[in-house]
Parts: sequence; structure tokens; C-alpha cells
Amino acid sequence: MTASDPSGPFRLLAQCPPGLEPTLTRELAALGIPAPHQTPMAGGVMWNGGWEQLLRANLHLRVASRVLVEVGSFRARALGELVRKGRVAVDWERIRAAAGGDGRRIVFRVSASRSRLYHEGAIEARLREAGELPDVAGVGEEAEPRTRDPGEAEEFPGVAGPGDRADAPGTPILVVVRVHRDQVTVRLDTSGAHLHQRGYRQHVGTAPMRETLAAGLLLQGPLEPDGGWSRPSLVDPFCGSGTIPIEAVLLARRIPAGMASVGFVPRDFACLHWPDLPPDVWEMEVARARAGIRPLDPERFAVFGSDRDARVIEAARANAKRAGVPEEVHLATAPLSKAPHPDDSGWIVTNPPFGTRLGARKSLRPLYAALGRSVQPGGRMVGWRLLYLSADPVLDHATGLPLEVRMTTRHGGLTVRAVAAR
Ligand SMILES: C[S@@+](CC[C@H](N)C(=O)[O-])C[C@H]1O[C@@H](n2cnc3c(N)ncnc32)[C@H](O)[C@@H]1O
Repeated sequence: MTASDPSGPFRLLAQCPPGLEPTLTRELAALGIPAPHQTPMAGGVMWNGGWEQLLRANLHLRVASRVLVEVGSFRARALGELVRKGRVAVDWERIRAAAGGDGRRIVFRVSASRSRLYHEGAIEARLREAGELPDVAGVGEEAEPRTRDPGEAEEFPGVAGPGDRADAPGTPILVVVRVHRDQVTVRLDTSGAHLHQRGYRQHVGTAPMRETLAAGLLLQGPLEPDGGWSRPSLVDPFCGSGTIPIEAVLLARRIPAGMASVGFVPRDFACLHWPDLPPDVWEMEVARARAGIRPLDPERFAVFGSDRDARVIEAARANAKRAGVPEEVHLATAPLSKAPHPDDSGWIVTNPPFGTRLGARKSLRPLYAALGRSVQPGGRMVGWRLLYLSADPVLDHATGLPLEVRMTTRHGGLTVRAVAAR
């Protein structure tokens, strides 16, 4: 079986924050699923594949939030029809098998748009009836608020975290139901904990960014999904808990997102506990991923991170150690004006403070101006490329640089953009 398997038994969906779909498409292509075999949609990309693709996607994708497998799709315009068709059109066996014999809780996440069926609670209740699943109406609401920011795949309360077993007793399984233009699509989660939870980041600063977003930012020019880099060094002068530098090293060393740990031990995924998992395929994928990991020659690609706050630098050190890359991330406590950097000019990739409140925003203008000056003639990093996560065009203006937007997404309830100095 080749990496791309359009005849594979699964209809797969990798979800990502909106705006990152083109990046996800490139990542999937690098995993051997060519663009013509992919169907992008808002918030994700679909493709057909087998176990190999399903496991590879969970292990390697850096901007995806989770990977789902379709277990049924049918049209329904009334609740009676939903139950009748749902009984036969959905693979309830797979859902029950995923829940295991110990009757783990099955949590539904339902969304409906442009459809006759609109009441999400009723859709859940009637689908449970169709699948003869225990009716635990209200559990969904308890576990998961119904109104969510669609820009962010939420944490899934109760799901095992990294380092935990995805089938730990009491850990629920997730069924995602989408009703759009009267088409009901039922999908089963294969990931378990959200894929941004790589497991290495147990210490965070005040405003950490998700690992998925850090990887998404790095993939807007500085690095390629296959680990290639466009310039020999990368500096984050506002590195906080180190997310951007750590993700840069993981990418450059081709350490899979799901193996960012001491000894490159893979994370546990929900689908690893499905009874029809072919264990040899998982072992092969892990062996293949391990064989692809390469050392990083600092002469060829060097990664630096600094922050004025000594406590977050301590956290960044602990995180880099847990990610299995303590040597490759050069960390220091320093203000922007003294941020250490190598001689070779490279990329500044960073997530500066946003200052969403009006007062804070005003007080941040000098910092953004200093960031802009640092890469202009006379600055200490002249000749360097700059790419940063921005939440505020006023602060962008303060840099005094001509900027281009490379990607727009959501982060912490805000619309944010990856902007690069031209
Ligand atoms: C949005 S946070 C970065 C979060 C980081 N990406 C992470 O995932 O943890 C911004 C960081 O900028 C740092 N900072 C603010 N002003 C600074 C300055 N003048 N020089 C260096 N660091 C500064 C803060 O201490 C904070 O850690």
C-alpha cells in the first residue's frame, strides 16, 4: 500500500483552526497524500485512506487539532427520519467498539447549519436512540459548551492527556455530528487528547500559544513541512515558554509532533485501542517515523529563544528538555534590545505581547517600533526576515515596516494574522 490510498476504507477528516487549511494541505502532501486526493473544507481537509494514513496523520500533523473518521452520512429533514435512517446508515458497531466493553461514556459534539434540523440537543438525543446508546442527555452540555468559537477546536474535558492512556477508565470517546444543508455526517474521533497537546509543555508563561499555532506560523515561510529551512537561523525574542523555538527544532529534526518526548516515545491515540487496529501497521509507522529523525547541525540551522522574564525561560528550558531537544534550543533571559542571535542572518519568528486592552495597546507601541527598527538599516538585526503573530493593525503600523499577511486564524478568542516584513 502506498502512502496515498484513495481506495482506503476510511473517509478521514483532519480538523484545524480556520485559516490553516492550506498549511494542512501542504503537510498532508508531505505525508504522501497528494493534493488531488484531498478535499479541503472550512476547518479541515478530508481524504480517503487506510490505517496507515490514519496513524500517520495522528503522529505527524503539526497544525491539525484532531483526526476523525466518518462512520455515516445521510440526508434527514425531520427527527423521525434522523432516527430511521440513522439506525442503518451509521456504523454504531465501530462506535461501540471504540467505547470498549467497560461502557465508556460517549460524548457528542453536534453542530447544525442551513438545515431543517437545528436543535443540537434533539439531534444528539435522536441519534443516541438510533444507535441504542445510553441516553445521557445533558452530559454533552456539561462536558462541552454548545456555543464555541469555531476558530478553536476546544479541549475535550475528560479525554486523556499526553502520557496518559487514551483508554483510561472514565475517559469518554468523542462523536462529532455535523448537519449541513440537511446532510447529517457522523464522525468518530481517532485522536483522543487534542493534537496540540504534544505533552512537552507542562510549564507555560502568561499568554502561551498552542503548539499547533506555533507550527502553523513557522510553516508560513521559515520552514517546510518536510523539515527544510529557508535561512540558517531562527530567533524568537519573545519566546515565553519556548513554543516557537521548540516547534522549529521538532520540524527541522523531523521529530513527529506525536513523538516530542525524551526517547521519542509516541503519544497514545484513541484509535490505538480499537479492536481492528493492525498492530504491525502501527509498529511500522513508529519505526518509519523514528528512522526519519535526524540530528541538527548547529552550523546549518541554529535556533535561539529569549525573553525578559527569567521564570518563563526556566519553563522553556524544562519544556525543551521534556520535548527531547534540550541541546538544540539556545535559551537566554534578555530584553528585545539584547536578544542573542547568531551572526548569520535568519528569520525572527515571534509572538509579541498583544495588549488587547486599549491602555496596554498604547503602551506596546514603543516595543513594536523597536522590533521594526531592529531589522532596519542601523538596527542590530538588519538583513533578518521578520514574521510575527499580530492581533492589531495599529501595532503593526508602529513597526514602520511594509508588511504582508501570510495567514489569518483565531487564537484566544481573537482574530490573529501571521505578518511578514517585505
Ligand atoms: C505572548 S507572550 C509569548 C508566548 C510564547 N509564544 C509562548 O508560547 O509561551 C509574549 C512574551 O513577551 C515577553 N516580553 C514582553 N516584553 C518584552 C521585552 N521588552 N523583551 C523581551 N521579552 C518581552 C513576555 O515576558 C512574554 O513572555
